[in-house]
Amino acid sequence: MKIKMILAMDENNTIGNDGDLPWKLKSDMKRFRELTIGDGFNAVVMGRKTWNSIPEKFRPLPDRLNIVMSRDSKLSLQGAEVALYDGRAIEIGYSEGCEDLWIIGGSEIYRLFLPKCDEIHLTRVHEKIKGDTVFDGIDHEEWTVTISEKLFNQSGDDYDTTYSVLIRKD
Ligand SMILES: NC(=O)c1ccc[n+]([C@@H]2O[C@H](COP(=O)([O-])OP(=O)(O)OC[C@H]3O[C@@H](n4cnc5c(N)ncnc54)[C@H](OP(=O)(O)O)[C@@H]3O)[C@@H](O)[C@H]2O)c1
Repeated sequence: MKIKMILAMDENNTIGNDGDLPWKLKSDMKRFRELTIGDGFNAVVMGRKTWNSIPEKFRPLPDRLNIVMSRDSKLSLQGAEVALYDGRAIEIGYSEGCEDLWIIGGSEIYRLFLPKCDEIHLTRVHEKIKGDTVFDGIDHEEWTVTISEKLFNQSGDDYDTTYSVLIRKD
């Protein structure tokens, strides 16, 4: 099982504002869906605040095992497994036979899992946006960029973006 991070960040590494995404990016949502569903059976791992940010009618994210990180041992969620620590999320992924474990945010969960990630799927949003949630954790010296794809003037996207895949250097 591979552990992969997927995130979108602006030029200042902002990822969120007021409990939500600070942009609408149709192309990125489509890619997110396709990658995290994949060909096999995958899991998505998210923080409790990111779970809460998904409208009820859209959660759990379909066709994926949803794992929500929380320190609340009494928390029970319809359609999602709750994990109290990072190793537990990984254990659930293995025991359910997942091919990929996708770390889908937010900032606390990206920080927690970054040392364990094999790949980062990064969408850089070419703008400086007002936001209250930042993820500064990626040291680009530690990663090799294997794919880089510019998406400019896309219909349904608030901003231009570049999608890159980063692989951890040996
Ligand atoms: N741009 C992107 O790609 C992207 C992706 C996802 C989310 N976001 C944005 O990011 C923001 C949310 O991020 P956030 O950092 O505020 O919250 P978050 O990471 O989604 O969730 C934080 C919660 O996770 C739980 N948690 C944290 N560390 C844990 C640990 N070590 N063990 C067990 N549980 C742990 C805690 O839940 P309890 O309080 O229940 O204990 C904590 O309150 C939103 O604005 C969202 O829209 C952006």
